[in-house]
Amino acid sequence: MKLIKAVRGTKDILGETGTKYAYINRIVEELFNSYGYSLIKTPIFEETDLFKRGIGEATDVVEKEMYTFKDRGDRSLTLRPEGTASVVRAYLENKIYAREELSKFYYMGSMFRYERPQAGRQREFNQVGVEVLGESSPLLDAEVISMGYHLLEKLGITDLAVTINSIGGNDSRVKYRKALIDYLTPIREELCEDCQRRFETNPLRVLDCKNETCKKHTETAPSIIDSLSPEEKDHYETVKKYLTLYNVPFVENPKLVRGLDYYSSTVFEIVTNKLGSQGTVLGGGRYDGLLKQLGDKDIPAFGFAAGVERMMMLLDDMKQKETDAYIIWLGEESREYAMKTADTLRKAGIRLAIDFNKKGMRSHMKKAEKLAVNYAIIIGGDEIEKNTVIVKNFLDRTQEELTVEQAIERIKK
Ligand code: HAM
Repeated sequence: MKLIKAVRGTKDILGETGTKYAYINRIVEELFNSYGYSLIKTPIFEETDLFKRGIGEATDVVEKEMYTFKDRGDRSLTLRPEGTASVVRAYLENKIYAREELSKFYYMGSMFRYERPQAGRQREFNQVGVEVLGESSPLLDAEVISMGYHLLEKLGITDLAVTINSIGGNDSRVKYRKALIDYLTPIREELCEDCQRRFETNPLRVLDCKNETCKKHTETAPSIIDSLSPEEKDHYETVKKYLTLYNVPFVENPKLVRGLDYYSSTVFEIVTNKLGSQGTVLGGGRYDGLLKQLGDKDIPAFGFAAGVERMMMLLDDMKQKETDAYIIWLGEESREYAMKTADTLRKAGIRLAIDFNKKGMRSHMKKAEKLAVNYAIIIGGDEIEKNTVIVKNFLDRTQEELTVEQAIERIKK
């Protein structure tokens, strides 16, 4: 019989990667809570139009990477390729803006993009992200970028570069687009196939094309910073000032434009050189126009998302001890007492293993060794009579008879 395998571009998370995944989620939750974010969980699929209108028809994501399908009711649905559009939809639909001036959400979960799979790039991947709605201050931009950096630092991920840019508002981008088209027109034929197409639909994307020829041609392209209005320049300067205040090392890259159309003003990425071509671990920026686009509301917003698989690849080995203690019970008459003791220990928070079937001492000891536990709890007829257990400490090779309560204290210490 042919064994059915996971679909290309998807991966099971288990064993050591399971430990890393759970660890990242725990750190993310702790950190984002401390900055005042609350959890939002939106559906995995949405109406296709949400992403077309939100992310932009001319983006790679919408043009060629979406998992779009018709359901049995003939609706066009899409597995979410990212989280921002869904969060904005939920915010507008639930009229959160009528209840609070500032909303801070974080999320974690699977996203889907039909990309060519390679190390650090999957078709189903996980993101953790934040979205802040209702604040236009550049101090927010700096605070959120600094939180993203802090997250990676907290996870022990080093050798990071924070890259920032400002792509201004609509007016500035129209102005810049014109300057860029003027610059690119004479060399249009020399650009890669993708960029020749982008030239019509989204010329700014030519700036971050990975093709060597395109890269060379854009080296001397006009800088978007020169097209910013004085207010936008001020905003950008303040972001940089506060990033310095928060000790976030950053570099400016006037060619950073990001791949989704909803951005305006500040954009940023955190990149590592340890993951080859898929080095962007975290990215985001301001999207002041998206709420207008999706719900006719003038509400400014800022956010980022980080790739969980990429963070997992950057974490050191993490073979976590999963079990604190193992119960050795001897003789049929000990079974019930042993199970009851296991129940009490687990309710006290001790990570415990126990076998349901009777075993001899030798095979119990082999099992304890395999689990690499620090403690074994031994139960036989004598202990049942005295209402005690024997706690064997494998670290200092001692053994003592204790009540179950004392055993809990000892193991927890
Ligand atoms: P993004 O840059 O498209 O932004 O994705 C964010 C992160 O998700 C990337 O930096 C990368 O680590 C990870 N990622 C993206 N695609 C893949 C893939 N195929 N396989 C593995 N990891 C991947 C966004 O999604 C925006 N929604 C971020 C944002 C939030 N902007 C504002 N708010």
